Amino acid sequence: MESVVISLGGSIISSDGLNLQFMQKFVRTVTEMDGTFRFGIVVGGGTLARTYISALRNYHVNDNILDEIGINATRMNALALSSFLADSNSKIPTTVNDAAEFSRIYRFTVMGGTEPGHTTDTVATLLAERINARILINATSVDGVYSDDPKKVPGSKKFQALSYDEAISLALSKSVGAGPNVFMDLTALNIAKRSNIKIYVIDGLELGEYGKIMKTGKTGGTIIG
Ligand code: UTP
Repeated sequence: MESVVISLGGSIISSDGLNLQFMQKFVRTVTEMDGTFRFGIVVGGGTLARTYISALRNYHVNDNILDEIGINATRMNALALSSFLADSNSKIPTTVNDAAEFSRIYRFTVMGGTEPGHTTDTVATLLAERINARILINATSVDGVYSDDPKKVPGSKKFQALSYDEAISLALSKSVGAGPNVFMDLTALNIAKRSNIKIYVIDGLELGEYGKIMKTGKTGGTIIG
């Protein structure tokens, strides 16, 4: 069986509350896909994480605790998504090791974050590496990687393809104080590079993109690799 990992950005799974309609459509899309694929799905924290983290940051709660809170938010979102999937784990694994074990049993393995200090993009890349996935789909709220944030800088250039080194340089140049605005965290890009995992950065709400990638290897987003 071929493995594919999807990093499902928190911003598409929850914006104004949980995006349940999207979750259901997403589940239908991946369930109808070719049965020879198995999926690892890593879910972000979205509004739940951001609301708690920004509120508590004002009270000088330390970053390690804020990360733990973020991790709990990602796991809640992961559990919500897995409740819609028939052939998936109903207990959310807390490590990539445990997720890898689940992936031997279920067609869909759903998880959130693991440790403080990174985001679910890194978890997704580690899971991809662990279960030998050649493809990682980074489903975000932007339809690819741009030279600048297209919502803030008009005329930003969208890249159709980037090498790992180009993507790493771009992330480095944007990472000063940018936090969640970086299209993918640096650790994730470095892990993808060392294991030659092809990353597709797509607008996660565009459900047609998932099948297109799996069937043709092409995307309207950005390919890193
Ligand atoms: P996300 O992966 O959703 O972070 O985890 P993000 O990339 O900042 O948010 P989106 O996807 O763009 O909306 C939410 C928060 O949980 C903590 C971090 O604080 C992160 O910002 N987290 C998550 C960890 O500390 N470790 C993990 O493995 C995952």
